[in-house]
Amino acid sequence: MDKTKKIPHHVGIIMDGNGRWANQRGKKRSYGHNAGSANVDRIVTHAFNSGVHALTLYAFSCENWARPKEEVDELMRLLEAYFKKFMKKVIKNKVRLNVIGDVSVLTPSLQKIIAEDVEKSKIYTDHVLNVAVNYGGRQEIVYAVKKLLADGKEVTMEGISENLYTAFCGEPDLIIRTAGELRTSNFLVYQGAYSELYFTDVLWPDFDEAELDKALDSYAGRIRRYGGLVK
Ligand code: FPP
Repeated sequence: MDKTKKIPHHVGIIMDGNGRWANQRGKKRSYGHNAGSANVDRIVTHAFNSGVHALTLYAFSCENWARPKEEVDELMRLLEAYFKKFMKKVIKNKVRLNVIGDVSVLTPSLQKIIAEDVEKSKIYTDHVLNVAVNYGGRQEIVYAVKKLLADGKEVTMEGISENLYTAFCGEPDLIIRTAGELRTSNFLVYQGAYSELYFTDVLWPDFDEAELDKALDSYAGRIRRYGGLVK
């Protein structure tokens, strides 16, 4: 690791392109989601080994329910399989898992495994992995405002920030989107207001360690002004 390089504290990733990856190989979309799922750990490991503290992965948006049932079921199956294996790997890497989004509509078995992983991994502080499931950035803002009102508090920018799902790990410094689309699709809408954006044409299953290094190098060269001037 280059200790002089500016490393983002918190990185968000929109893992796009599984369907196209499968299509290019003449396979069904589920084949791409399996390949995409298999890619998660190498990127999580490489990000943390590179000095990133928190990683937020967009796994399933509130809008993804509109996909065919077969595809939704496959994504839920992959998530459950991932969370089932999570604790075995996390002990070595000291990763705290946080699942962001409205998990109340997920199957009881998926909710149970998520709750167990989240509870058991709470002791780890080195790294944070946020997995966004049934997540939407606008929905998250509504959730935060409702929480403030329910607590009898004034609605302020600080108050909203403090009640976002990701409040405890800070705003994302860098948001990466794979597979060529130039939008952020309801991901980290409020906390991403000043995030640096990195887009690549590489499809998620092909986004390997070298591609993540390119994104981190791009971030290292950015000058962040937050609306002010560079001194
Ligand atoms: C976008 O590709 C990807 C998704 C909607 C799902 C992302 C899920 C995974 C990578 C697997 C499960 C996640 C974890 C954390 C284990 P797309 O289907 O929109 O691709 P396309 O734009 O090429 O059709």
